[in-house]
Amino acid sequence: MANLLAVKPLSQLKQEAVEEGEHTLKRSLGPVNLITLGIGAIIGAGIFVLTGQAAALHAGPAVALSFIFAGITCAFAGLCYAEFASIIPIAGSAYTYGYATLGEFVAWVIGWDLVLEYAFGAATVASGWSGYLLSLLEQIGFTPSPSLARFTTTYGNPLYFFHGKWVSAAALPMGTSTAGLQHVTGIFNVIAFVAILVITTILVIGIKESANLNSAIVIVKLGVVAIFLVLGVGFLMHHHELLQANWHPFIPPHQGTGAFGLQGIVAGASSVFFAYIGFDAVSTAAQEAKNPQRDMPIGILGSLVVCTILYILVSLTLTGLVNYHSLDVAEPVALGIDVTGVTWGSLLVKIGAVFGLGTVMLVMLLGQSRVFFSMSRDGLLPKWASSIHPKFRTPWISNIVVGTIVAFLPALLPIDKLSEMVNMGTLLAFAIVSAGVWILRRRHPDLERPFKTPLVPLVPILGVLSAGYLMLNLPMLTWIVVGAWLVIGLIIYFTYSTKHSKVQAGLLK
Ligand code: ALA
Repeated sequence: MANLLAVKPLSQLKQEAVEEGEHTLKRSLGPVNLITLGIGAIIGAGIFVLTGQAAALHAGPAVALSFIFAGITCAFAGLCYAEFASIIPIAGSAYTYGYATLGEFVAWVIGWDLVLEYAFGAATVASGWSGYLLSLLEQIGFTPSPSLARFTTTYGNPLYFFHGKWVSAAALPMGTSTAGLQHVTGIFNVIAFVAILVITTILVIGIKESANLNSAIVIVKLGVVAIFLVLGVGFLMHHHELLQANWHPFIPPHQGTGAFGLQGIVAGASSVFFAYIGFDAVSTAAQEAKNPQRDMPIGILGSLVVCTILYILVSLTLTGLVNYHSLDVAEPVALGIDVTGVTWGSLLVKIGAVFGLGTVMLVMLLGQSRVFFSMSRDGLLPKWASSIHPKFRTPWISNIVVGTIVAFLPALLPIDKLSEMVNMGTLLAFAIVSAGVWILRRRHPDLERPFKTPLVPLVPILGVLSAGYLMLNLPMLTWIVVGAWLVIGLIIYFTYSTKHSKVQAGLLK
């Protein structure tokens, strides 16, 4: 009989950390470093792409309120993550925390769910990345021929040639007839496909995560956001009439399921939630924090607060510059800057987005391979998933297998469908982690907790409820796909993992 509650001993986790060289980690990160770390992992396709879609399809200018709602949900979960991270004082993911505290079955569900989150997350960002790269290429004069343009978007998606660019129907100015425009129908998004393969190659060869690189990336991302805000707000200050026209009504009237009105704001929150994913990266640095008790919550909440403020400002400015009806495009932030007429601004935003989103893909695929690696090393997945390349010292087989599968996702599926899967998976992980904090407080009240989630059980309960509420606002199809994913996971767990689990076999003490 499988022991679903088997926990992985803490001593073993510490031992593994030492084997992986974590004993060399120094407690060197202060609050500012942790906030920077969080921002580096958070800002990506969410703000650069999904904001436009959420405004156009769900919330209108009130997408700013959607950002507040999603940010609060993340804050509850973030506080719970921080407690787990401080109990298990090694770099790890929710899978590791779950295995050491809540037992193997819950750990499996979280791990399997994280695999989905990271795989679809990388795919979502690749999709956003391809939109910005294409737009950048077109701006500097490389406009694809019609036969090439078919390979820049997903299957069945029509593109129209308008003012020297290939754009989707939603990006055409309102009232433009498509009748006289040259058009092609998408086959396969080669740009996104190649992006994932390139990132996979980088992962196979191995990368050293460096604090300097992270700082450079954060500067690029914040720089892009700052340029947008300065140019956008400056322009709007002189064009009140534009703001008046585009912000009225601020909350467009409800128009059916998930479209506008108050319900649209929540549906928008379920969508832009993606923009916040990544702050849990802060919790994985618990062991490197100088003073985890004080600094983990500062790092997590600080990066969330900074991003929430930036997201609100960007969404307000964007919906002020461009009418929300026209924002369902591949590169909405660049479209916003185009309104200001500052050509170099739009060029810089596109270049910054291309670099900024590239690193988010890297973080996602790296996270994916780490979870796969840990699960395989614990015996829950086959050995090949943790086999290490003799020269590069990376889990190359799992990187290549997963990378190749993931590459097909953005090549074939649109960004909104991809991001909804990620959001569902992540919200589920948030709910489990939040509930887990409360359960663990009751089961093991005496564990040493360098950081304690405040107001338990209120914060965990609000974490579960807010995540659950956002999940309810995601489309049925997402529930079906994620449900099917979990069922496949359960089949693997009961047919393979329980038989090979090292913890259950008593091999890990
Ligand atoms: N928060 C990350 C992004 O928006 C995942 O790309």
